[in-house]
Formats: sequence, C-alpha cells, structure tokens
Amino acid sequence: MFVYLSRHYLTYNINNMEKTLVLLKPSCVQRQLIGEVLNRFERRGLRIAGMKMMQLSDEILREHYAHLVNRPFFPSLAASMQASPVVALALEGVDAVQVVRAMAGPTNGREAAPGTIRGDYSMSNQQNIVHASDSTSNAEIELKRFFRDDEILDYTIGTFAFIYGDGEANR
Ligand code: TYD
Repeated sequence: MFVYLSRHYLTYNINNMEKTLVLLKPSCVQRQLIGEVLNRFERRGLRIAGMKMMQLSDEILREHYAHLVNRPFFPSLAASMQASPVVALALEGVDAVQVVRAMAGPTNGREAAPGTIRGDYSMSNQQNIVHASDSTSNAEIELKRFFRDDEILDYTIGTFAFIYGDGEANR
C-alpha cells in the first residue's frame, strides 16, 4: 500500500485485489476440459497466482466439505472428488470471489444458465466441473488449505492496464 499525495487530490492506493480458490474437479479433468475452463478465467482477465494438480486425500476432503460430511450424498461426493487428480487454482482480480462464482453458475449444472461454466459443460448436481470459494473469508481459508505461501506467486501480467480502467485496480 502507498499513499499518493498531490496538490489537488489525495488518493489512498490500497491493494484491492482479491484471491479465490478454484478446483477443476475430476469431471473437468476426466473430460479433458482443463484448458477450456482455464482459458475462460484467463480471457476474463483473472491472474493465475497459483496452479497445481493434486490427488485429494480423505482428510482434505472432509475438511473442505465439512459442511456436508453428514449429508447422505457425502460418500458419493467424496468418491467423485477422488476419481482422478484435480487442478487447484488461485485466481486474482478485483472482486474475484464474486466474479468467479458468477462464472461457475449455480451448483446444479442443469439449472445453470448457458454462458456459465456449469451451464455450458455440466448436466449434474455433483459432476459440476468446478469448485469456487463462496466468500472472501472462505477463500482465505481454502487458499491456505490447498496452497503453501510460496506456491502463490506475485507477478504482474503485462496487459494489466488494459484489463482495468484508471483507478479501478490497485496492486
Ligand atoms: P455446495 O457447497 O452446496 O455447492 P457449490 O459447489 O455450488 O458451492 O456443495 C458442494 C458440492 O457438493 C457441489 O459442488 C456438488 C456436491 N453436491 C452433491 O453431490 N449433491 C447435492 O445435493 C449438493 C447440494 C451438492
């Protein structure tokens, strides 16, 4: 953060970038849609701050879906999430949590509008291609769950000045 002071105005240039966690689920990996879904995030102007392929353990899944462990569908959800590796992404942008949730669409692919990821690639409530953090506080917790600090990389993308208008985004 820096504070810019001029004769005419005072601007507090506070970093307003947000990071969110996305998982490209086995339904994405197995259907060979990784590139296609990743491409959507890149085209939108989100910065890929972290990316790795991993096989989810029982432990991390129970933690990640703690709000669902007692639901009858949890065993089949866990099996679907362990059917192959997933790709974990840390995506950065202004309002990234809300932007990525809107790109994902509602949980059930059959109810998701065309143009959303689930609405374009999913016919299922479970095999729904992506996970995306649902709040900034959960994003923070989930990013720590899937990435070590040194796996989140701070670099600038060259087109930054053409993704946001003047004053809209501060890094
Ligand atoms: P949830 O956190 O409710 O939705 P979202 O992924 O949209 O944030 O549910 C987590 C995952 O659990 C969801 O992506 C797919 C799975 N799930 C089922 O398999 N069956 C269900 O009935 C529900 C509600 C979710």
